[in-house]
Amino acid sequence: MVLSKRKRYRSGEVIFREGSFGQCAYIIESGQVEIRLEGSDGDVCLNTLGIGEIFGEMAVIDGSPRSASAIASEPCDLVIVSREAISERIDSADPIVRLLISMLLKRMRITNKSAQGAQKSVSKVSEGNPLTLDLITNDDISDQKQQVLEKMRIESDLKQALQNDEFRLHFQPIFDLNLNTVSGFEALIRWNSLSRGTVRPDIFMAIAEETSLIVPIGRWVIENSCAALKRFVAEAKKYGIKETPMIAINISGRQFNDPKFFDHLVSVVDKNKLPHSNVKLEVTERIFMEGPGALRAIMKARNLGFPVALDDFGTGYSSLSYLANFEVDTLKIDQSFVRTMLQDHKTKAIVEAVIQIANGLKVPVVAEGIEDEQVCKVLGEMKCNYGQGYFFSQPLSIEDAIKFMRDSACVKSVS
Ligand code: C2E
Ligand code: CMP
Ligand code: CA
Ligand code: CA
Repeated sequence: MVLSKRKRYRSGEVIFREGSFGQCAYIIESGQVEIRLEGSDGDVCLNTLGIGEIFGEMAVIDGSPRSASAIASEPCDLVIVSREAISERIDSADPIVRLLISMLLKRMRITNKSAQGAQKSVSKVSEGNPLTLDLITNDDISDQKQQVLEKMRIESDLKQALQNDEFRLHFQPIFDLNLNTVSGFEALIRWNSLSRGTVRPDIFMAIAEETSLIVPIGRWVIENSCAALKRFVAEAKKYGIKETPMIAINISGRQFNDPKFFDHLVSVVDKNKLPHSNVKLEVTERIFMEGPGALRAIMKARNLGFPVALDDFGTGYSSLSYLANFEVDTLKIDQSFVRTMLQDHKTKAIVEAVIQIANGLKVPVVAEGIEDEQVCKVLGEMKCNYGQGYFFSQPLSIEDAIKFMRDSACVKSVS
């Protein structure tokens, strides 16, 4: 915190009075402070605070008047914490944390008021205060509050979803544009919630990523992706497909924070007797913003023989220096470029340049979001190695994915 200044108070001196505006909070460096409420039958002492305690934060945080008076009950030294120092923290806090704080403050005010026996309604006290920080208040029925509440509900439902077996994996074929075969599948999670119906993965995985739930869900994805790959490999053998299929698993940066991540991954892959080289980890460019730990994890993955794909390339913080400094095994050009490249010559030029750079670095490229034949053809001419998108197939259930792989192999052997 940015601490502005210190102030000394004499015994009995009033630091501030109930109902006044709160411009700052205080930390007690020495001495004691009484927190008092004025009642019709005399003052009520709510608490006596000592060294290291903070007071005066409530009015600063929720913008309502001081909830009580503060009086030095002995000589004391106080550090003054500016309003800005607190508001910076509040503004950057998680919206759920802000909502919880606002609820706690409101409850605290109500509890204090009942101790005082006052008739005044607390909500009236906090009405129309110009100093209100960007807290989500309890009275607020804004979209923002609804969103926060919905997020909390989804989080709570997500916890049950694993136990209730509500997740499934779908598999989207990744096509080798040169060989015209299925080279493997990307595993994409689906949540068929008992209470909500189908929930989009970009919504619930973002929430899982904000919480530790990403770890058990991520483990579930790895376990089921590997079990699926085992089946794909067996089916490929059965149908005489020479290339061993691979599976691409989306990994969020936070999964790497789990110290057992690699132990778990290796044990699952080895238990299924799968080659590490056929289990590809897809990470997005955002991972580069998550600090050295995530980058070390990418290197560790590659050292263990797991290829790493850089997903959604071009959308985030793509920096060519990352490509120079960090070895990745595949680049996936984001679908937003692929889908619009035939309508916009600049986008087309970017896609072509990315493919050329990747070819120069000898990094295979996957173009995502191919929805029609013309786009597929142009990408082939640009020497893009792999393609993925509705043109080939939507994400499929495991049975349909196996059938798709088999049919594609048959078409190839006939042609
Ligand atoms: P992503 O990794 O970029 O996955 C590709 C998304 O594009 C998938 O959406 C896929 O269904 C969709 N897609 C594929 N081809 C086309 C196309 O031709 N046109 C259009 N319009 N869309 C296409 P999905 O399955 O809804 O997944 C959305 C995102 O959720 C994924 O984006 C990924 O970031 C995340 N996600 C999905 N499964 C997992 C998972 O198991 N773990 C993690 N960490 N994230 C996941
Ligand atoms: P604020 O409302 O800004 O001003 C009065 C301060 O007293 C308040 O912030 C809290 O820091 C503190 N305070 C209020 N109620 C209590 C309580 N019950 N116990 C201890 N401290 C309190
Ligand atoms: Ca992906
Ligand atoms: Ca992607």
